[in-house]
Amino acid sequence: MQPATKSVLVYDYTLRIFHWMFAGSLTGALGLALLADEHSRLFSWHMLLGIIAGFMLLLRLVLGFVGSKYARFSRMPVRPSQIIAYARGLFEGGARRYVGHNPGSALAALAMFLTVPLLLATGLVAGREPWEDVHGFLGYALLSLIGLHLAGLAWHTVQHRENIAAAMVSGRKVGLPNEAISSAHPGWAVACVIGVSAWIGGLLSNHDAAGAKVRVPLTGLTIELGKNEGGEPKREKEKRKHRDGHER
Ligand code: HEM
Ligand code: HEM
Repeated sequence: MQPATKSVLVYDYTLRIFHWMFAGSLTGALGLALLADEHSRLFSWHMLLGIIAGFMLLLRLVLGFVGSKYARFSRMPVRPSQIIAYARGLFEGGARRYVGHNPGSALAALAMFLTVPLLLATGLVAGREPWEDVHGFLGYALLSLIGLHLAGLAWHTVQHRENIAAAMVSGRKVGLPNEAISSAHPGWAVACVIGVSAWIGGLLSNHDAAGAKVRVPLTGLTIELGKNEGGEPKREKEKRKHRDGHER
């Protein structure tokens, strides 16, 4: 087969919009978790951004079944034989080049898709032990996955001499004409932007900053922000740990 030398369209607008909104909301949620005081008003945004990332993931799950070619879960090369062959290629050289996701990037993406719902579930009860620790652990696990994702992109750039980072902006990667998707689906993207903006607008208009709570659109769920739901308040717990330490 003739080696591919030209770039072709592989990621449509919707997948690219999803990527940057998912990356942005997770970076914001992680940044605030690590930098903001959890009793501050700013910390509410840690939770709001986490909830937004969860909504983006719902959109991605739909794309995984009905989206364009390389967005579909069925196209992700994650069979054990594909993973083993790819890993061997990484160490021995000559790893096969994939037009869509390669086994490494597909595994990292799937691991992120699994970690985010677990973060949401444990975030809701993060005031109770052991969930606070489990939630923190999952947060650091996600941070490591993002690190691996970025390292994988750097490795691909060097190994295949292709500026892969640009693929999530232009939607294009090196491939053969018959490997390209037929359209960037601007109509889907517009519908998706309208739907996502309406949902985020609904979330933010239901955000009661003074009362530190939010009602999540379409779910009827009200979430307390910045408080430890049902558990021992963090400050009380710290005081108790401090007291216990002195008594011992
Ligand atoms: C910081 C947080 C980030 C997160 C959470 C994240 C997450 C993801 C996910 C989930 C995918 C899979 C896409 C899908 O099928 O839905 C992906 C792919 C990709 N991301 Fe990111 N990403 C991040 C940062 C970045 C950055 C900074 C860049 C560029 C510099 C980038 C470039 C790409 C590219 C090029 C792909 C496609 C890789 C391939 O073709 O195999 N990502 N990312
Ligand atoms: C999905 C994205 C999320 C990420 C990446 C994330 C990450 C983290 C991390 C790393 C911490 C620990 C910070 C530290 O070391 O002190 C943390 C704390 C916390 N998170 Fe999240 N989180 C997310 C979503 C949520 C959501 C949706 C909620 C609630 C609705 C939430 C509630 C909390 C609470 C209450 C704490 C403080 C726990 C405590 O120490 O009492 N998080 N988060």
